[in-house]
Amino acid sequence: TQSITEIARVRNINRIRMGRHEVDTWYFSPYPQEFTACDTVHLCEFCLSPFDSEFQLVRHSKRCRLQHPPGNEIYRHEDISFFEIDGRRQRTYCRNLCLLSKLFLDHKTLYYDVDPFLFYVMCQTDAHGAHIIGYFSKEKDSAENYNLACILTLPQHQRKGYGRILIAFSYELSKVEGKLGSPEKPLSDLGLLSYRAYWTEAIVERLIRFRGDVTVEEIANATAITPQDVMHTLQSIDALKYYKGQHIICLSNKVVEAYRRAEQKKRRCIHPELLDWKPPV
Ligand code: ACO
Ligand code: ZN
Repeated sequence: TQSITEIARVRNINRIRMGRHEVDTWYFSPYPQEFTACDTVHLCEFCLSPFDSEFQLVRHSKRCRLQHPPGNEIYRHEDISFFEIDGRRQRTYCRNLCLLSKLFLDHKTLYYDVDPFLFYVMCQTDAHGAHIIGYFSKEKDSAENYNLACILTLPQHQRKGYGRILIAFSYELSKVEGKLGSPEKPLSDLGLLSYRAYWTEAIVERLIRFRGDVTVEEIANATAITPQDVMHTLQSIDALKYYKGQHIICLSNKVVEAYRRAEQKKRRCIHPELLDWKPPV
């Protein structure tokens, strides 16, 4: 027998349409009741407002003035931009973003209270405007020193390296703040896979560049990854050895080769010098 809350959390929206993309949803999201009856929810690509028919969306689009997320552009490289949006100043937009992301996030409680968060939205720009690819949220003041609360790459853009640059961006912000950071727990399976891949790459890069003696603290300070996450990553790639009475960090050929192979792929990366940002006071 299912409890009322479980029944209420069954996937309630089948499909969404955003621009030219139509995607099936993964999980329950508390969209207003009226949307659960329609087969496809149509979202305005720019303000993320939901509509129950294409007709309503087209009518809206004639009036919607947004061509990018309603915040400051704090980074641009080629066609990729990041916008910083304050949950308190742009409540409607940020609530729409949370409703959308909840469709693909199971384990997180959805925050109706968006005020304590900043949202970093990554977009790809073309002649029509800046189209959202993914985002992450960040508590303005995290007691646990989390540098990221929720992360999402929209399903139509997944597995193209965008999650990796969202994560990299969150660590670049931490570097500017002079802090070490870690994502909010628990991580989803996909979140864990992506973080493990990012951590491994960032740490191995550091080790290959430094050689010689390097401590976990030094790696942490250079990457803004917490010492705990550095340790776990080193353990997971079997790089912590006990040698002549001492713990040493030692990369296997397999790990180095995997890193070199990844390096060969021309992947997008974040250029820290293009970040135009000061920590909000
Ligand atoms: N299967 C296996 N490995 C994967 C997968 C997958 N489906 N997705 C990511 N990875 C690993 C791979 O190592 C990948 O590198 P590769 O493609 O070179 O092999 C690496 O992670 C990075 O992949 P990206 O393409 O950069 O990541 P993507 O843009 O797909 O975004 C994300 C990853 C954000 C986790 C995405 O899967 C997503 O939005 N999922 C739904 C929401 C979610 O679970 N968010 C995390 C919740 S935890 C939190 O918010 C703190
Ligand atoms: Zn709109």
